[in-house]
Amino acid sequence: MENRTIGVAILGLGTVGLGTWKVLNAQKDEMVHKLGATAEVKKILVRNVAKAAERTGHPELITNDWQEILNDPSIEIVIELMGGIEPARTYIGEALAAGKHVVTANKDLIASDHGHLMEVAKQHGCDLMFEAAVAGAIPVITPLKQSLAANHLTEVMGIVNGTTNFILTKMAQEGMEFSEALALATELGYAEADPTADVEGLDAARKVAILASIAFNSRVSFEDVSTEGITGITANDIRYAKEMGCCIKLIGMAHSEGEGIEAYVAPMLIPLGHPLSTVNDSYNAVFVRGDAVDNAMFLGRGAGELPTASAVAGDVFEVMRNLVHGCCGRVSCTCYKELPIVPMEEVRSRYFLRVLVEDKIGVLAMIANEFAGHRVSVQQMIQKERINDCAEIVVITDRVCEGDFKKAVHCIAEKPNTRKVEAVIRVYGE
Ligand SMILES: NC(=O)c1ccc[n+]([C@@H]2O[C@H](COP(=O)([O-])OP(=O)(O)OC[C@H]3O[C@@H](n4cnc5c(N)ncnc54)[C@H](OP(=O)(O)O)[C@@H]3O)[C@@H](O)[C@H]2O)c1
Repeated sequence: MENRTIGVAILGLGTVGLGTWKVLNAQKDEMVHKLGATAEVKKILVRNVAKAAERTGHPELITNDWQEILNDPSIEIVIELMGGIEPARTYIGEALAAGKHVVTANKDLIASDHGHLMEVAKQHGCDLMFEAAVAGAIPVITPLKQSLAANHLTEVMGIVNGTTNFILTKMAQEGMEFSEALALATELGYAEADPTADVEGLDAARKVAILASIAFNSRVSFEDVSTEGITGITANDIRYAKEMGCCIKLIGMAHSEGEGIEAYVAPMLIPLGHPLSTVNDSYNAVFVRGDAVDNAMFLGRGAGELPTASAVAGDVFEVMRNLVHGCCGRVSCTCYKELPIVPMEEVRSRYFLRVLVEDKIGVLAMIANEFAGHRVSVQQMIQKERINDCAEIVVITDRVCEGDFKKAVHCIAEKPNTRKVEAVIRVYGE
């Protein structure tokens, strides 16, 4: 078989960069059979040259000079694994303008600059691929852009942050409180020293922006995605969820019936019969609903050295295949619509409310009246435990507008007999 050698450069040799270096080396003998080409890593860009030289055992490949890579015509593919916005955005833009193809795992950059970078790639007939930017190892970008392209998709929802899924799993399975589960996640290396981006849902929101843009062929940016994290979820909420036959997951939701796009991240009660309820620990999953495919779920490792490198290397193989067959730039930007983002007040969901009220006659009627007055239809209202002189009331609503529901809860919270609104959580389903 003919074997073409394709020069590649890796920018960044951290967790994913090192994993990609290992996977490309492990595939060296196979590539020619799979692709008709072999990838040769020509340069690795880092800040700390000595550390990278030691990690790879190849000091001759390591540089901290981007121009060396940009000006080397034998480098046809640039693999960006540094993370962050700058200098990644500049380097990717310059690489594409120089006719080099780009593979990246950079969700921050793709969520904010996807449209611009895809346009630059198109202008220069280049590939720009980013499978690893959403849900790590799990193939979801390519399936959405290609395998499921013949669908009208209505929903792409998922567990797209492993750290929060690990925390919620520990809370559910071992009865831990949030702070205890977060401490364990940090100790085991699942949570970063500053866990804000994970626990506040910001990391998941970046992935929702990317998924929604591709699923609905219309640009959704990070700022369009409303975000709610899991810091307010308690072991008590999880216990109540269990009683109702549900678990609590941090869900990234992108929904569209064709006229507008709902895009948000929020903790949600998921019925135990739903496939996402079985996704535990640091696993990720993306659940897709379409007119032809019906329902499909993609499950796997959402992060980690080799799992993420698997997705990066898969993209590199795809670019190599395109180079061998002279068909780069085949799959470019798929956002050809301009759908509005549905304001959160208009998004319809079912809700779970837990509220502590004084244990007095008429309090249940007060809650029912406030909901009725704000067009919120109640499916169930249960009086749970008595705590001192208070009663704990749990309410499950039908599907209602978020704006109406929030106004009703605000009014209930202001009533003299209300001690505390303990929890407000969305419930998935009709
Ligand atoms: N980790 C995961 O499991 C995972 C999963 C999915 C996606 N991702 C994405 O993959 C990317 C890489 O993540 P990571 O976890 O591998 O990061 P990381 O471990 O922090 O590694 C970053 C690497 O980039 C290098 N670097 C950073 N800024 C640089 C600059 N200005 N010039 C040259 N080199 C620079 C660093 O070099 P020095 O060490 O010399 O400073 C380091 O080698 C990010 O976009 C991340 O969001 C990661």
